Amino acid sequence: MPNMPHELLRVAVEVVRAAADLVRDLREQGVSGVATKSTSTDVVTAADKSTERYVRDVLRERRPGDTVLGEESGESTGTGRVRWILDPIDGTVNYLYGLPQYAVSLAAELDGQVVAGVVRNAANGEEWTAVRGAGAYRAGRRLHGSAATELGQTLVATGFGYAAQRRAHQAQVVARLLPLVRDIRRLGSAALDLCFAAEGRVDAFFEKGLNLWDHAAGGLIATEAGLLVTGLAGAPPGPELLLAAPRGIHGALHDVLVAFDAAGGP
Ligand code: IPD
Ligand code: CA
Repeated sequence: MPNMPHELLRVAVEVVRAAADLVRDLREQGVSGVATKSTSTDVVTAADKSTERYVRDVLRERRPGDTVLGEESGESTGTGRVRWILDPIDGTVNYLYGLPQYAVSLAAELDGQVVAGVVRNAANGEEWTAVRGAGAYRAGRRLHGSAATELGQTLVATGFGYAAQRRAHQAQVVARLLPLVRDIRRLGSAALDLCFAAEGRVDAFFEKGLNLWDHAAGGLIATEAGLLVTGLAGAPPGPELLLAAPRGIHGALHDVLVAFDAAGGP
């Protein structure tokens, strides 16, 4: 079915818009059900769980047979060619504090390849979409990333894991990188970081330790905006490291991240 990726995007956008409205409404009622996950700083709220439940219910009804992988409740068993990858709230710490930088992220895989993705900032309604081979868009405008070519002029977004030892290593990498670039941004949502890089609001983004739901949709959006989305030293993007950068800066940033062992440490 040639239009399958576009049809999957249509479903994804519809579901994510309703889910983002739910996230916003729940935030207005006050944050509840706060618990911790992997460490004492890794939080989950009632809104993460109920938003995931909502998206799963709608997808089950709209597309029975599809598999769903979600951050809060793992993977369901499907029978078809499609797997949905969901982060109900990416940027949960921002959500907790009321910083307007948290998003619903939903990607659709067809036969194991991400072909459609949408990320919507639930706090302000900004929405990024992409279909593989058909470009990345926000508000009807096609995205092309930044034209950066000099490391010293590059605004680099990054993020940190929740475990103290990993953070200590990530802090060392940032300490060495900071004198070489324009500046560093830590905005608190990897999905939005990738969309910002796709749009050129930052020049590039990298992070160690991301999960698939953090980057499946945003990674496609960055790729479709023309960025290279890779790991280090020929590795694919993944938990070891994800680097998203325009062609003009990818090589230089990649090489310093290798030199600083950004994919290393705990
Ligand atoms: C986190 C955010 C954050 C990144 C962390 C992620 P969550 O996702 O994307 O920016 O630095 O690695 O775990 O916990 O808010 O869904
Ligand atoms: Ca999350």
